[in-house]
Order: sequence, then C-alpha cells, then structure tokens
Amino acid sequence: MTLTILGLESTCDDTAAAVLRDGAPGDRILSSVVVGQGALHDAYGGVVPEIAARAHAERIDGVTEEALAKAGIGLAGIDAVAVSAGPGLIGGVLSGVMFAKGLAAGAGLPLIGVNHLAGHALTPRLTDDLAFPYLMLLVSGGHCQFLVVRGPDDFTRLGGTIDDAPGEAFDKTARILGLPQPGGPSVEQAARAGDPARFALPRPLLDRPGCDLSFSGLKTAVLRARDACVADAGGLTEATRADLCAGFQAAVRDVLAEKARRAVALYLEEAPAAPALAVAGGVAANSAIRAVLETVSAEAGLAFVAPPLALCTDNAAMIAWAGLELFKSGHRSDMTLAARPRWPLDSAQAPLLGAGKKGAKA
Ligand code: KG4
Ligand code: ZN
Repeated sequence: MTLTILGLESTCDDTAAAVLRDGAPGDRILSSVVVGQGALHDAYGGVVPEIAARAHAERIDGVTEEALAKAGIGLAGIDAVAVSAGPGLIGGVLSGVMFAKGLAAGAGLPLIGVNHLAGHALTPRLTDDLAFPYLMLLVSGGHCQFLVVRGPDDFTRLGGTIDDAPGEAFDKTARILGLPQPGGPSVEQAARAGDPARFALPRPLLDRPGCDLSFSGLKTAVLRARDACVADAGGLTEATRADLCAGFQAAVRDVLAEKARRAVALYLEEAPAAPALAVAGGVAANSAIRAVLETVSAEAGLAFVAPPLALCTDNAAMIAWAGLELFKSGHRSDMTLAARPRWPLDSAQAPLLGAGKKGAKA
C-alpha cells in the first residue's frame, strides 16, 4: 500500500500543513502550505509566544484544508496524521497537537507525534534518499547542532550551541547595525562590500576541544566595536557597517568550519559506508557558510547535501516525511500524546543550555 500522510507544524512562528505520499524522491510532496507570522511579531523584536499560539489555533484548520485541496484529496485519502509535538513554544505546539488529535480521532486515523528536529534531520532522505548514517548540521534561527542520523528515531548529538543559534546572532547583529530583519540576508548582502580583517572579532570556543559552539560573545563583540566606532567618528559609515558585517560573517564561518571538521572526524571513526554531510536551516542559505561546509566535506571525502531552502526552513512536509518513516518502523501515538517544549533528539545526552528568542533549543 502506498502511504499518504498529512503533516502539521506549529512549533514556532510558521503554521504549516503538507500532504506527502510515499514514492520516488521528486514525487513525494503533494502539497506544502506554510503561513508565516512575521508581521504579527515585527513590532516586538522577536516571536511573542501568546500571539504565536493564538495565530496557530486560528489558522491551522484553514491551512490544513488548503493543503488537502492542493493535494486534491480529502481526509478519506489520508492514512495517518503526523504532528510536531515539540520542541518549541508550548502554546503553539499545543495548538498543533490538539488539532491533530481531534482530526485523527474524528476521522479514525492513526496519530504520530514527531520531534520537530527529527523533521529537519530526516529531510535529506525526503529529498535525496540519503543513506544512514549521515552527519547533519542543523543551523537556523532556533537551532544549531551536529547530529549523526542513524534511523528515524536514532540520533547522536556530537555538539551544539551553548547559547545563541547562528541565525539569532545574524539577526541581533543586523539589529545592532541598523539593518533590516531577517538579519541573515541583510548582513550577507552588506558583507559583500566589507573587509573581514578590519575588526578582530573572536572565534568563540575554538580553544576548547569538542563540537559545542557559542555565538553570543561574538554578537557582543560586534556591539562593542560599533560603540567604539560611533564614539570615534560620531556615527557608522557604510564602509564600517560593511566591514563589521564581513568580520562577523567570517567569524561565524570559521567557527562552523572548524567545528564541522571535528564533527566529521568523529563521524568517520565509525567508518560509514557512504559518508555524507547534510545541512538544514535558514543559515544554510548563506553562500560563504555553505561554501566552507562544502569544502570541509570535499576535503574529508564526504558527499555534501543541502536540500532546497523551502525544505531547509520550517515546513510540514518534513514532519509528514518523518511521520512516514516512523509509521513504517511501527511507531504510533495515542490520545495521551503530550506537547513537549523541550525534547532533545538524543536522550542519552544532557540537554543543551540556553533558550533564545525562538524558545528552547532542544
Ligand atoms: O530555519 P529558519 O527559517 O527558521 C528557524 O530558525 O527555525 O531560519 C531563519 C534564520 C534567521 O535567523 C535568518 O536570519 C537566518 O536563518 N538566515 C540567514 C540567511 N538567510 C536566513 N543567515 C545567514 N545568511 C543568510 N543568507
Ligand atoms: Zn525548525
């Protein structure tokens, strides 16, 4: 039987639904609808959990109807409902989980609770049928971790951020320098004209062994450098702004490159048959960062996989896909499925420290 799964996502500030059918990689996604909430939160400088939760609750039924209509099927054509049950902002996760439970109970369908991070981590299989085990770097506004992905429910975390995620650092840097949000694209754009060597910005945690990362000190260093320039020159020139952006981006790139080298070395110790590094998350759109990760992969003899950006950022097709993989390996949830604001993928590891503007990291 060819399985058709409805996926639902509401852990942060995107309300999403998708219909996915088992088949060849290019033919799997029958529909994928993502409705963002940027405009609702703009005035507050970050995602406001209560506003996000209310918007998810108001929109998720319409988004689901749209996904079903675009796929050209009704609930009768669905075999199971997969929903992100965490980690994320509790109100939003609850909106999705309660809706999914109602839908599954009403239509008599199996329910599968999916870890949002597993959705990201399994995306290279949705797009490229990548073989287990592969190395994954999740790098976005809310996440930053290196994972060895061994199965749909089997992950080893090699390291992660102990404070901010890199996308969060790009966003804060943009704010410090008066550039528009989201910060990643505007900092990358400004960095093109800049001199990365003018400001000596730190490369946090490179002096310590392991694959953990830290980005909040880097953002503070940008703030100090900006204040020193403003005190000296009475303001920020275009050239100084570009130099700060270039210096910041080069620091993030260098840290990710070195930590990726270390993660690759650890991963290769287990002699995978078809070694590969995959990336997901909005920061993977950065061409300097993507290029250095490609170089690190090539140097170590790894294939490099970067799914298309629409599947790297938050979406429900990845939740439906993770649901499909879990369903095939026998997983089912029941009406006791709980929303989990914190839900580390690798339960053997101590949870990471810190929670950023988008809530708990894992
Ligand atoms: O994966 P994503 O859409 O959302 C979550 O964080 O879940 O990632 C968004 C983040 C934002 O912080 C944004 O500034 C960053 O990805 N980003 C970039 C670029 N494009 C988006 N960071 C660096 N360079 C970019 N070109
Ligand atoms: Zn995400």
